[in-house]
Amino acid sequence: MTLLAIETSCDETSVAVIRDGAVLSGIVSSQIKLHAEYGGVVPELAAREHLRNLIPVAQSALSKAGISIGQLDAVAATQGPGLPNALLVGFKAAQAVAFVLNKPFIGVNHHEAHLYSPWISGEPPLADFSKFQPNVSLIVSGGHTMLVLVESELKHRVLGGTIDDAAGECFDKTGKLMGLPYPAGPLIDQLAEQGNPTAYDFPRPLLHDASDDFSFSGLKTSVRYFIRDHPALLDDRQKVCDLCASVQAAIVEVLVKKTIRAAKRNGVRCVTASGGVTCNRALRRELTRACEREGFALRLAEKSLCTDNAAMIGILAERKLLANVPLPSLDEDIKPGWVLA
Ligand code: KG4
Ligand code: ZN
Repeated sequence: MTLLAIETSCDETSVAVIRDGAVLSGIVSSQIKLHAEYGGVVPELAAREHLRNLIPVAQSALSKAGISIGQLDAVAATQGPGLPNALLVGFKAAQAVAFVLNKPFIGVNHHEAHLYSPWISGEPPLADFSKFQPNVSLIVSGGHTMLVLVESELKHRVLGGTIDDAAGECFDKTGKLMGLPYPAGPLIDQLAEQGNPTAYDFPRPLLHDASDDFSFSGLKTSVRYFIRDHPALLDDRQKVCDLCASVQAAIVEVLVKKTIRAAKRNGVRCVTASGGVTCNRALRRELTRACEREGFALRLAEKSLCTDNAAMIGILAERKLLANVPLPSLDEDIKPGWVLA
């Protein structure tokens, strides 16, 4: 099956061509620079930029895959959750392509797609579901932090999520307090490599809470007060590195310990992780260590597949079509608030 997938839920315009579990091409055009000026994603600008970029990105995905549009057997797009006007661009374009080609169309939940991105690897990227096993999956991005029990392919249950800020948001907002540009996550990761993670002690919110929920707004507030009380610290590069390492250590400890605990409690032997924050080196290191210690298999999404991309949308869409899930009607609407259950 040859499938075209489109992802425009936030600030990445992405198109991929998938064939039989292989990612023939996956193009991502990021709008980060555009939004950096405003310190965060501006929804209306994101939608306009998707409108500008979608056709060129689709053309280059098709041409890289060596596929003409007439060779497609199916079309998929992110249906939600996401920014409404941004979602509309990719979703309606995908429906139009399916309508013109008279081929099946399927809308995909963005978070459900994240659950399967750790199973895509290699060069060229291939989804390896032969090794699939029940797992606890951590999805950790700028908008979401959640733990999901994936019992089998296409069967999952959300265990917990953030009750306020997402982990990526915590990286970005604490970075802003330090004067770092948006998105601060990757920069904090870099600076933290030269810092001491035990230099400053920040809270580990909900670490010992029985639930699988997360909360990061208290950590952000404590960083705010810390900087207010030690303003000179920001003029000392080493101290900024120590601050980055200490904040990162608090976020990573909560993510890793809660993920491992959920995996143990649910009796799975495999842990997976995806979403933009999964690019973080300390998180990758600490999850790897913890999984080795506890005897869990670990699958981390490759860095290019951690952030938003159409390849994961296409891989999940293909599995759904092969499993004969009921197809929605072609005039289905986007679901901006679609909550993964
Ligand atoms: O998945 P993503 O591209 O978009 C959504 O939010 O859906 O994730 C972006 C988030 C941002 O908050 C960014 O700061 C964070 O992922 N991020 C990182 C790193 N790379 C991206 N956070 C910490 N360390 C990183 N290396
Ligand atoms: Zn995402």
